[in-house]
Amino acid sequence: MTKAGDDRPIMDHEYDGIKEYDNPMPRWWLLLFLVTILLVPVYYFAPGDIGHGAKKEAMYQKEMAAFKAAHPDAGGGTVTPEQMAAIVADKAEVEKGKALFAVNCVSCHRADGGGLIGPNLTDDYWIHGGTPVEIHTTIDQGVLAKGMPNWGKILKPDQINSLTAYVVSLHGSNPANPKAPDGVLVAATPAAAASAPAAAPAKTP
Ligand code: HEC
Repeated sequence: MTKAGDDRPIMDHEYDGIKEYDNPMPRWWLLLFLVTILLVPVYYFAPGDIGHGAKKEAMYQKEMAAFKAAHPDAGGGTVTPEQMAAIVADKAEVEKGKALFAVNCVSCHRADGGGLIGPNLTDDYWIHGGTPVEIHTTIDQGVLAKGMPNWGKILKPDQINSLTAYVVSLHGSNPANPKAPDGVLVAATPAAAASAPAAAPAKTP
């Protein structure tokens, strides 16, 4: 506390009788301030994981590439036909997919897959392809412009796999009152090739 009447300079404003000493900033505070200014170029151009600039971006890309290499099935959309064939043949996957379908898909594709807002998933007509990998891609990425959600953003990759297995298992189940075919006729499986009417006209959306 400073005693009244000392001779330190007083600033020339006054508010409601309150005056203010013209005290300098403490030296240590000013020095710290100057040091932070001197550090700006270090942070701005710094290599490595501090600072700004292209290096940060490059580091992110490198880390993502390393992660993808270490986790090939993360992010859904990168399944191989061999992986899908194994999943589709697995009865446990089909059962898991059935439960997920009941929760997420029936509102648009109907409980039996016969189609409602979304197309019939049991026939030989596909808009986006009827192979397991293509079905997986449609479920994973959706068709947002047409109202099919991108489930890869909502569900986990293994759930997308299970759903694919279930959708494939619906093929040829011939539900009552199905939605009219959408898309083009494709023989997705050898069974489909055998049962598809040879001269059915391919309807385009
Ligand atoms: C909000 C409605 C809606 C929901 C919910 C929905 N879908 Fe769809 N789905 C659609 C529509 C609409 C299409 C047709 C897209 C087009 O016309 O390109 C479609 C297309 C598809 C196709 C491609 C069919 C083809 O002919 O190529 C598959 C497979 C599919 N949905 C699976 C699913 C699964 C699995 C779920 C649940 C996880 C699901 N859908 C949930 C609306 C929906």
